[in-house]
Amino acid sequence: MEAGKGAQGGYVGRGAAGQDAPSAELAGHDSGTSWDYAPAPESREIVRIAPEYGLFVNGEFAPAASGRLFPTVNPATEEPLAQVAEAGPADVDRGVAAARAAYEQAWGPMPPAERAKYLYRIARILQERSREFAVLESLDNGKPIKESRDVDVPLAAAHFFYHAGWADKLEHAGFGPSPRPVGVAGQVIPWNFPLLMAAWKLAPALAAGNTCVLKPAETTPLTALLLAEVCQQAGLPPGVVNVLTGAGETGAALVAHPGVDKVAFTGSTEVGKQIQRTVAGTGKRLTLELGGKAANVVFDDAPVEAAVEGIVNGIFFNQGHVCCAGSRLLVQESVADAVVQRLRDRLGTLRLGDPLDKNTDIGAINSRPQLDKIRELSRAGEAEGAQRWSPPCELPERGFWFPPTVFTGVSQSHRIAREEIFGPVLSVLTFRTPEEAVTKANNTPYGLSAGVWTDKGSRILWLAQRLRAGVVWANTYNRFDPASPFGGYRESGFGREGGRHGLAAYLDA
Ligand code: NAI
Ligand code: MG
Repeated sequence: MEAGKGAQGGYVGRGAAGQDAPSAELAGHDSGTSWDYAPAPESREIVRIAPEYGLFVNGEFAPAASGRLFPTVNPATEEPLAQVAEAGPADVDRGVAAARAAYEQAWGPMPPAERAKYLYRIARILQERSREFAVLESLDNGKPIKESRDVDVPLAAAHFFYHAGWADKLEHAGFGPSPRPVGVAGQVIPWNFPLLMAAWKLAPALAAGNTCVLKPAETTPLTALLLAEVCQQAGLPPGVVNVLTGAGETGAALVAHPGVDKVAFTGSTEVGKQIQRTVAGTGKRLTLELGGKAANVVFDDAPVEAAVEGIVNGIFFNQGHVCCAGSRLLVQESVADAVVQRLRDRLGTLRLGDPLDKNTDIGAINSRPQLDKIRELSRAGEAEGAQRWSPPCELPERGFWFPPTVFTGVSQSHRIAREEIFGPVLSVLTFRTPEEAVTKANNTPYGLSAGVWTDKGSRILWLAQRLRAGVVWANTYNRFDPASPFGGYRESGFGREGGRHGLAAYLDA
């Protein structure tokens, strides 16, 4: 059993049998009793990180007008990766002006079939450079390479492919005979899926003929900047895509800018509400994709092994930094003990540690503030009387880490049942009847997603009609496809991303 410590070596997640394990050198070679994975780190050689990055405006990288920079770090090691330009009001002016000029002179007048070619080209380059993107994403965000490689990057490419196909077919999409683009889109994205959220924002906007000013999150700017480089490589006309790095102030300046016609935001409900106030009365279009507190409902007839995998995927995928995470497990009382026991056994096999190791299941928490928030809510869970459990788990000494955690004995009034934790923390509640499951699942101000696990198709349909959530997964969880619209309502926001519905936000039909 590997018992390594330190940011790179420390991965763990062992069952009770691992306590007296042999040393790392002997693991797996000696007695035949240990079947642990040897370290399998992905090389970071493929990525070249510059010491400093400028803003991407009008097809070129340039420093911020103020010359100000901010650092981005590797959350697994706290190692500074690069200094990144911080865009101020003058840069936002420049970015929006570049997008406007490109909209009027290049991208708007371009025949849609030509626009499609650029989107295809970007998608192909993303595929060609996928390993580079995956490694960079894991370095800057802390997510396991297994996920950046198999989920984030392929889905980002899929979004460009899918929307490339729409570009020249919009007049046949049910939006009327000649839907028009909206103009300049100001897009602000979060840090949990940095490249994928950039793709979700840019691809439909560009396919519909709009130009974009994108503001990545301050802790994860690097893949958006690499995507800007891909836009150059694809020969995208200057100004069609602009990337302005910075923090909340930069985002606020962008959404308030009078030259922006359409605002798209993914992030916290709190900031979403501020943006809604800023945009109110301006005539700007707005879509908001905000938080969630999804119920993952497990009935007594569900196949337990599959349900446990779905619970794990629902809340421990991406360290639980997922707006649609299945953070509230609602399990039918008659099977609750059995399901929780299987879940604990399964969590004992998860490996936490170096995000670049191909065997890592749980990576680093994205930032210190996010770690503080997870710790605070977990403390509240204990203080309010829920029972906290984690598998034996050795956390690396440096970096931001939190073990997979399960709370049982949770009641609906507990903060951990009501507030979005956005971390690897599951709150378990029980129900007796399907009606009670519906009532408890809907007892949240959010309405983004939900899951249902049962053997009965009729029960899935019955429940799906009653759950107030934009997305309901049945016998699966966290499945995404560019053709399938995603989004919520109530405190989870409004508007859809993906599919034909997602295009509507970027068209004046
Ligand atoms: P945040 O909402 O502050 O950040 C998201 C993006 O908005 C970032 O690019 C940020 O720079 C930008 N931003 C911040 N303030 C802004 C403003 N006033 N105007 C325009 N843009 C602004 O989220 P944060 O602080 O990183 O995370 C806090 C909590 O929000 C998390 O713990 C989680 O619960 C939730 N969250 C939800 C996300 C989702 O996908 N639904 C994504 C990120 C966070
Ligand atoms: Mg970072």
